[in-house]
This record gives sequence, C-alpha cells and structure tokens, in this order.
Amino acid sequence: MRLLVIGSGGREHAIAWKLAQSSVIEKIFVAPGNAGTALEAKLENIAMTSIPDLVTFARQEKIDLTVVGPEVPLTEGIVDTFQASGLRIFGPTRNGARLEGSKSFAKAFMLNHGIPTAACETFDDAATAHRYIDRHSLPVVIKADGLAAGKGVIVAQTSDEAHAAVDAMLVDNRLGAAGAHILIEDYLEGEEASFIVLSDGKNVLPLATSQDHKRLRDNDEGPNTGGMGAYSPTPVITPELHDRIMQEVIMPVIRGMAQQSQPYVGFLYAGLMISPQGEVRVLEFNCRLGDPETQTIMLRLKSDLFILLDHAVNGTLDQASIEWDQRPALCVVMAAQGYPDSPRKNDLIHGLDSVMAAQRNSDEFHIFHAGTAMSNTDPTKIVTSGGRVLGVTALGKDIRQAQSQAYAIAADIHFDGCQMRHDIGHKRL
Ligand code: AMP
Ligand code: GLY
Repeated sequence: MRLLVIGSGGREHAIAWKLAQSSVIEKIFVAPGNAGTALEAKLENIAMTSIPDLVTFARQEKIDLTVVGPEVPLTEGIVDTFQASGLRIFGPTRNGARLEGSKSFAKAFMLNHGIPTAACETFDDAATAHRYIDRHSLPVVIKADGLAAGKGVIVAQTSDEAHAAVDAMLVDNRLGAAGAHILIEDYLEGEEASFIVLSDGKNVLPLATSQDHKRLRDNDEGPNTGGMGAYSPTPVITPELHDRIMQEVIMPVIRGMAQQSQPYVGFLYAGLMISPQGEVRVLEFNCRLGDPETQTIMLRLKSDLFILLDHAVNGTLDQASIEWDQRPALCVVMAAQGYPDSPRKNDLIHGLDSVMAAQRNSDEFHIFHAGTAMSNTDPTKIVTSGGRVLGVTALGKDIRQAQSQAYAIAADIHFDGCQMRHDIGHKRL
C-alpha cells in the first residue's frame, strides 16, 4: 500500500510514523512534512500543498489512501475534491468540518441535538456586543466564529479585556473574515479534557483520552497556544464519565450528521470542560486529531492504524477493535522564541542526532518534529522553522515516570530561545 499524509506538524509526524509500522504499508508520502518525517523509514516528503496538485499526485503515484491531518484543508473541502476524483481519502467532508470551521454552526448543532455546552449569543455588530458585555457577568469568553489558528478565543477576566476583544475582531478585523462574526459565551469552570473518537459515519471507536496544556507558561499562565504538552490517559475521564460522554456528546453528533445525510467519517475531537460537580460541557469540536494529544495517543496505540482508517473509510468500523499500551505517555513541546505571536526561524537545533539515534533502539520514546527543517546552508543540520518545534514524547510505568523520561530527553536538546513548560502532567502528581 502507498499512502499520502497531508500536513507538516507534530501530529502528522506521529500519524505517519504510526502508519509506517503497518506491515502492509510500503511507502508514505508526506505533504509537505518536516525534517522529522524526512528522516523516518518508509516516509518521503513532497513539497506540495495545493489541493489540485495533491489530486494529480495521488493519481500519478497510485495512492491507496490519503490521510488528512490539519483542519484547514478539511474545511476547504479536500475530502470532497478527492472523492469527486475517485480517490480514497480519510477525513470529514467540507460539511462535516464545519463542526470546527464555524463555531456558530457547532453551537446551533449542539442546541438542536441536546448536546451540553455553554450558553452563548452571536454578534456581527460591535455596538450590540458591547451592550451585551455591559450586562454580562465576568469572566466572559469571546470567540471568533471561524478558524483562527488558536488565536480566536479570549477568556476575558475584566470588562476592558472583553470590550477590547470585541473591537479587535469586529472593528479592527484583526482576524479577518474568521472574526467577522463572534460568539460571546458564558465562562465555564472545571478541568479540561480531550475526547477523540474515530468514526465511519455510523460506528464509533473511542481513542485513549488525553489532556492538553494550552497556556504558554507554567501554572497555566501566559497566552493560549496550540498546546504546550499533553498526557494520555487522563483520569479526569472516569469510566462512568466516559459512558456519559459517548451517549450525551459523541453519539448525538454522529447520529445528527447522519440524519442530515452528512455521515461524519474521520476523527472527531470534543474539547470538554468537566465541572467540579462532574457535569460535562463541550467547549469546542475539532474535525481532526489534537496536537500534541496525538503524539501521546500514537505512542500508546498498539493496533495497526492503517487497518483502523481503512475500516473507517469502508464503513466497517464495527469489525475493528483497538488495543492500547497500558502505560501512560507524556509529551513536552519545545517551542521557538517568540511563539505564539511571531516565532523566530532558523535557530540551529543541537543534540538531536544522538537522541534520534537512541530512539531507533527504543519503543519507549519518540521525538516528533513539528516546525523543523533541514538547514539551507548545511543539509546535515536541522533548524527551527515554526512555532512548535519538537514534541518529546515518552512512556512510563506511571505519569511521573513518563514525565521524568520526557524531560530528561528534552534536556539533551538545545536551541536558542527555546520555550518549554516544566509542569506538563503536574495536575496528576
Ligand atoms: P476553544 O478553541 O473553543 O476550545 O477555546 C480555547 C480555550 O479557551 C479552551 O481550551 C479553554 O481553555 C478556553 N475556553 C473556551 N471556552 C471556554 C469557556 N466557555 N469557559 C472557560 N474557558 C473556555
Ligand atoms: N491541542 C488542541 C488542538 O489540537 O486543538
């Protein structure tokens, strides 16, 4: 089998690495990939991102299955385009991807299907939004309707912050079209968890649970980011909560999409807030795997990922089962200077060679690359090329051991300006 994986982040490195372990896989192209996917067995990067080019490539190279990592091509309809060209592809259609691509669509869908979420109002006029904030209690959450690469949600503690967020989106157009409509949502208290499932449109296989760390700095301080670290599983999701989340959140989405003749095939990610009383509320849906949650989930997955995705595309997920390494996994993200606002590129990464050599003899850890590239001046060297640079991911007999293992490996890797949290997994210790 020959596969094509679309994307260039840590999530896509982890997906492609796991797919490559399947004995039926001969070759995986990664478009465009990163320095980590360039060096992995069976993987080859191709410098290509436009959907028409990818269709042509998949035809010419007789690709058996394309797997889409990020949300942007999904919301642009890459799945619809591939299918219209008779090509097999795994992921939701453009309509399905609206669960992530439009927060107002997702809210209306949740309301229609009785899925628990925070109360909210939508606005496209700043004056009305300002009046609403004046009457609303604090904190309050301002969300851009469209995709904003992690910059579209402001949790405002003061009314000044809330008014400023409204002006940034609706008056100054800081987020462009993504912020031309906004949602103002009630603030929810509790602990967050990531609940991700694999769906064939009807049948659902839940993946291992996980927890992300969204803020840049230790103790959940600093700005929101795409995610600075994760661990799996999270004990916040007890077996009883797991059942309720499947019944009250996941199955209503899958059934609701099927009822609208839009069967949802792909990964579905529910970002959840679990209140101190154990109530579940949906913060957001994503139409893809989480990053860096994926890095921990893939390190723990024992089943053949290709077989699972093949079943999902065929609509036969009821015939599949999924097996996990019982050991927890923990991922520490090493990010570039200036992330998340304006990450600096081209810092030389030291220490990777010996760590990557050691990982060839170990199934207990893996360095998943994200914003890395081969240096232009010296192709034997790897440099930073994006916000989140590396995801150092390790298994351990418990969270504490996974944590100390991941941090010990990260300590051997250096680049100027590296930003890293030192408390990933702290809530569990
Ligand atoms: P989202 O992209 O909607 O998941 O929001 C990004 C982050 O903002 C979440 O991971 C939460 O940490 C925070 N957040 C979003 N909505 C709420 C809410 N209603 N109450 C409290 N925190 C929220
Ligand atoms: N780590 C959160 C996300 O992938 O959206």
